[in-house]
Amino acid sequence: MNHIFFILSIILLLPQLFVWAYKDDTVNIHFVPHTHDDVGWLKTVDQYYYGANESIQVAGVQYILDSVIPELMLDSNRHFIYVEMAFFMRWWRRQDDTMRENVKKLVRMGQLEFINGGWCMNDEAGTHYNAIIDQMSLGLRFIRDEFGDHARPTVAWHIDPFGHSSEQASIHAMIGFSSFYFARIDYQDYKTREKAQELQMVWQGSQTLGANSNIFTGALYHTSYGPPSTFCYDIRCKDPPIQDDPDLFDNNVEERVKTFLNYTLEQAKHHRTNDIMLTMGSDFQYMSAKSWYTNMDKLMKYVNKDSRVNAFYSTPSKFTKALYDANLKWKVKTDDFFPYADCPSCFWTGYFTSRPALKGYVRELNSFLQSCRHLEIFATRPVKSEKFRESVVGQGSHVLEEAMGVAQHHDAVSGTEKQHVANDYALRLHIGQNSCQNLIKGALNTLINGPSTIVFDFKFCEYLNISSCVHIQDSASYWFIVYNPMARSRKVPLRLPVKENSSYTLTDVKGNTLDIDLFPVSSITKSIAGTSGTGKYELNFIADLPALGYTRYELKYNKNKSRKISKIHKLNSAKSFTMKNNKMAVTFSDGKLTAVSDLTNGISLEMNQGYFEYNSSVGNEKHSHQASGAYIFRPNSSTPILISSTQTIQNINGKIVKEVRQTFSNWVSQVVRIFEGKDYVEFEYTIGPIPFKDGQGREIISRFCTPLQTHGVWYTDANGRSMQKRVRNFRPTWPLNQTEPAAGNYYPVNSRIALVDESKGIQFVLLNDRSQGGTSLKDGCIELMVHRRTLVDDKRGVGEPINETGQFGDGLIIRGKHYVILKHVKDIRHRSLGEEIMMSPTTAFSGSIEKSSRLGMFNFTGLAMELPYQIHLLTLSHDNASANTILLRFEHMFEETENNSTVTLSLANLFKYFTITSVVELGLGANAKLSDISRLHFATNNGVESKDWSQVYDPPFGDDLSIKLGPMQIRTFSAVYEWKD
Ligand SMILES: *[C@@H]1O[C@H](CO)[C@@H](O)[C@H](O)[C@H]1NC(C)=O
Ligand SMILES: *[C@@H]1O[C@H](CO)[C@@H](O)[C@H](O)[C@H]1NC(C)=O
Ligand SMILES: *[C@@H]1O[C@H](CO)[C@@H](O)[C@H](O)[C@H]1NC(C)=O
Ligand SMILES: [Zn+2]
Repeated sequence: MNHIFFILSIILLLPQLFVWAYKDDTVNIHFVPHTHDDVGWLKTVDQYYYGANESIQVAGVQYILDSVIPELMLDSNRHFIYVEMAFFMRWWRRQDDTMRENVKKLVRMGQLEFINGGWCMNDEAGTHYNAIIDQMSLGLRFIRDEFGDHARPTVAWHIDPFGHSSEQASIHAMIGFSSFYFARIDYQDYKTREKAQELQMVWQGSQTLGANSNIFTGALYHTSYGPPSTFCYDIRCKDPPIQDDPDLFDNNVEERVKTFLNYTLEQAKHHRTNDIMLTMGSDFQYMSAKSWYTNMDKLMKYVNKDSRVNAFYSTPSKFTKALYDANLKWKVKTDDFFPYADCPSCFWTGYFTSRPALKGYVRELNSFLQSCRHLEIFATRPVKSEKFRESVVGQGSHVLEEAMGVAQHHDAVSGTEKQHVANDYALRLHIGQNSCQNLIKGALNTLINGPSTIVFDFKFCEYLNISSCVHIQDSASYWFIVYNPMARSRKVPLRLPVKENSSYTLTDVKGNTLDIDLFPVSSITKSIAGTSGTGKYELNFIADLPALGYTRYELKYNKNKSRKISKIHKLNSAKSFTMKNNKMAVTFSDGKLTAVSDLTNGISLEMNQGYFEYNSSVGNEKHSHQASGAYIFRPNSSTPILISSTQTIQNINGKIVKEVRQTFSNWVSQVVRIFEGKDYVEFEYTIGPIPFKDGQGREIISRFCTPLQTHGVWYTDANGRSMQKRVRNFRPTWPLNQTEPAAGNYYPVNSRIALVDESKGIQFVLLNDRSQGGTSLKDGCIELMVHRRTLVDDKRGVGEPINETGQFGDGLIIRGKHYVILKHVKDIRHRSLGEEIMMSPTTAFSGSIEKSSRLGMFNFTGLAMELPYQIHLLTLSHDNASANTILLRFEHMFEETENNSTVTLSLANLFKYFTITSVVELGLGANAKLSDISRLHFATNNGVESKDWSQVYDPPFGDDLSIKLGPMQIRTFSAVYEWKD
């Protein structure tokens, strides 16, 4: 009996050994067993890992991996993919050597395949490209380090993010992925594509990089990453198992096979090749892998008796190869997949703004992490030893790296997690921030004084935006260091809280006295700071910072002298008033902004600005029960309401800063500033707590209206990089039936939104300091959503309204910044301003003045020469590969239409204190040599195919290791360096 069974099963398994022998007209059904493990959502990332807090959701990632591995070992036909390295790392480090060897073997055999391989599956609407690249590298490098190059993922897998950005596609192509699969796509777009057999395509994510940014892209059938209906075999699924023993009751094989064939043959009709993919799994599934594999084994066995199909275990990379081998030409997509709607009144455009404080914190820490990494390297010079890490640096930058990696998840920075999970992300980020503060403290001490002991107990002020810092606000005199993470010197306006209204002297490192302005702290700021207090005054100055370096400032209080405080002028709101310096003029009348002029180029523009609210729908209309919530923006009217009950307007004119303070209501106010030497206008808004006691959810926007003729067109950035053209009530690839006039025109604005009037030759760019939703609902107008509070859940799973509370008051208060520039059409100023905003400096405060007079390096630049204006130093960090290597990324910031120069950069002598002796070029994920990365280049019906990046880039040349960078290119290097003496 046993023997017969054995022989039988060998015969039954035989067809599966020949799966790659294609039969014409047979539908090849790729079973892709997978689990979708959110790196935090309804539970925190650690709760999901352990399977804690099960009353919220039954999900424990440790059991998934524990359960899948033995099932794979039982049968070499079985496959599984794993995606989220934040979880895999947690599991891996707890395994013994035997288990690790088993897993390595499964990876070598291709049974277990890493797909995507980032730390998380990142959000695409709220993320910044710098953070995306960092989180992808973190996961991909973990895979390389533990499993080697053969385990390198080749497929991007974003099955859950709620809309897809062009920059994400382009990043995937630069990492070296051959294909990109996702599930969520607008329902109208889906229907059109399904009908036309266009669910699969080639996506060209960057118009400047052209065909080289092409990536084969597939939208999953039925917009679902789950199994076909009634074929879910997880232990908690309610679907029938395959009951195939003739001696037992309820044999269902015939019915199951019929239903399965009906589904899959229908699916095949909507695809151009004979290959279809079934995503066999879903959220946190495979905690009991046996039930899945047992039933899939049987299902395949019985369906394969029908000659029309050939079902087998597969992976997305094998599926991709099969499609590639079909040798077809594919249609090219050049726009993106925003916004995403899953029904007529269900636009997922609320999450573009949800949790604005978390979004702001994540963005702020992006530049802080870069500073931390820079100083981690620079400070090893005096010690020239790896001991530095333990002795001075402590835990290093990786604590913040991992926290940032987790925070990019599509239920983290997106704002679509439960409140307790949002708190957990913020806590992790804060722990990472503290770790980097310690690192920077050690690094600065080492750079200033050599590797002795910590002399200066630097303090960091995290609440300077509300003029609050317990370390300095009551000190009379102190000094501080400002670090600039940008590879160019720059002048940055800074603001510090001070106690007295008497005379202060601020001197730079050379002993020069700087211009300062003392402004009284506003009552709004004081009320926000509450019990933690503020200084009484704000000291404004402009710091002049070296490239990739720091400098020192000293603040001295002179008791006996007194300085004139800039006076607050109450303005008569009825009268027109112009605030002006030598660069900008800003006019107000009737208490409102009415015009802005750039005096450097003579452009003057009428501009009305104000704050408005959309009232959130609670889903009680006849035709729709969709409420506005964490994911979805659904106003009960598409016309926003002006917020302006009471209004005061004040003006303060300093020598270097001029500001107008406007109060629109007791929860909406802003300060409009212009700075000496700066060609932009800064709007610092303070919004909240949003009133809710009338039961009304509110979504607040700042709106600017101008007479610009824009013909329904505006531009938004993709993840802080390339600009996307947007057209009102229009989608480039299908005839849109616009069902939500406001929400259906919202797009992610990660760094800027712009209007262009070709006839006037003017562009108006509005930049922000965190991701927000934005649109242009009327020609000449743009709006950004700055805050939202919705009082009901929008039924997409999170089960909570977005109803954030703050430290003070009965709701979260948001303070953020917008920047306005007015330029001629071809002007590229928005790029450099964007870079300045993204790379905010870090300030470290020390105690007494006396100590600073010690000798030491109080002025430091890490560069021998500044980078050309086109080039952004995207990464300078330790390369874990070995102690004497660093990781470098250089980015050309411009689109071809903006600046098409190819820039040559010499790497050898770029840095001041070390020489780069050799470099190896890597893919964007820093996980493989560029020359080892080859992608599948799918043929397109425009006749242009992508090339491998190693074919696109000239290798570094000359003794000075020169590289060339063209528009929008990012090049990544592992560099060996030697300290100069
Ligand atoms: C076959 O599939 C179609 C949809 O694809 C469905 O409407 C129909 O009910 C199915 N028939 C059977 C017998 O399962
Ligand atoms: C557009 O969508 C609405 C809402 O679903 C629907 O009532 C209407 O018939 C659609 N119009 C067209 C032209 O399809
Ligand atoms: C929103 O938050 C406030 C303040 O914490 C609370 O009083 C109120 O009950 C909350 N409302 C809802 C619908 O959750
Ligand atoms: Zn998810």
